[in-house]
Amino acid sequence: MSTDGGLHIRGLEKADFDYLVSVLDRWWGGPASQHAHPLFYYEFGEHARVAEHDGEIVGFLLGFITGGKEPVGYIHLVGIHPDHRRRGVGKVLYESFMAHCAENGVQRLKTIAATGAEGQRDFHESLGFTAEVVEDYAGPGRARVVFTRAL
Ligand SMILES: CC(C)(COP(=O)(O)OP(=O)(O)OC[C@H]1O[C@@H](n2cnc3c(N)ncnc32)[C@H](O)[C@@H]1OP(=O)(O)O)[C@@H](O)C(=O)NCCC(=O)NCCS
Repeated sequence: MSTDGGLHIRGLEKADFDYLVSVLDRWWGGPASQHAHPLFYYEFGEHARVAEHDGEIVGFLLGFITGGKEPVGYIHLVGIHPDHRRRGVGKVLYESFMAHCAENGVQRLKTIAATGAEGQRDFHESLGFTAEVVEDYAGPGRARVVFTRAL
């Protein structure tokens, strides 16, 4: 998938995963690479998306589709190169994942974030997600913001 802005969205290869693990802490400005569990390549790689601009990887999305009668498209981790933020890369990655989810009968999307991550909250709300703070979501005293959206 190519867009007007010269962005190219494609699937995730092992070399991409290796690259992302090496840059993730820098892209996030803190420890984040532990969130890139290898299962998001080996078991769920078919759901992942990479964004390229002029042949350079500028963003990625790791996610999966749950099983069951009402499958949910779950976004585990998204990251955008710091020099390429606010240019619609995250939005285009989400749109590609959403199209993939729609093709697979998904009717609801979900993702979570730490409380206080205002940039993520604004980003998700701009994409039509509803945010709810759920106390103890990730265990005692570990509240999370839960974002959901119908597809
Ligand atoms: C959150 C993240 C995925 C957004 O990706 P992106 O490619 O920059 O987002 P987009 O350009 O697609 O933004 C789409 C819309 O979301 C909203 N948005 C995105 N980032 C935002 C931010 N930091 N603050 C406020 N609104 C934001 C805006 O409405 C934006 O549209 P606009 O630029 O026309 O105003 C990206 O910044 C990222 O990888 N962050 C990782 C680190 C992080 O989350 N930091 C914040 C907490 S510490």
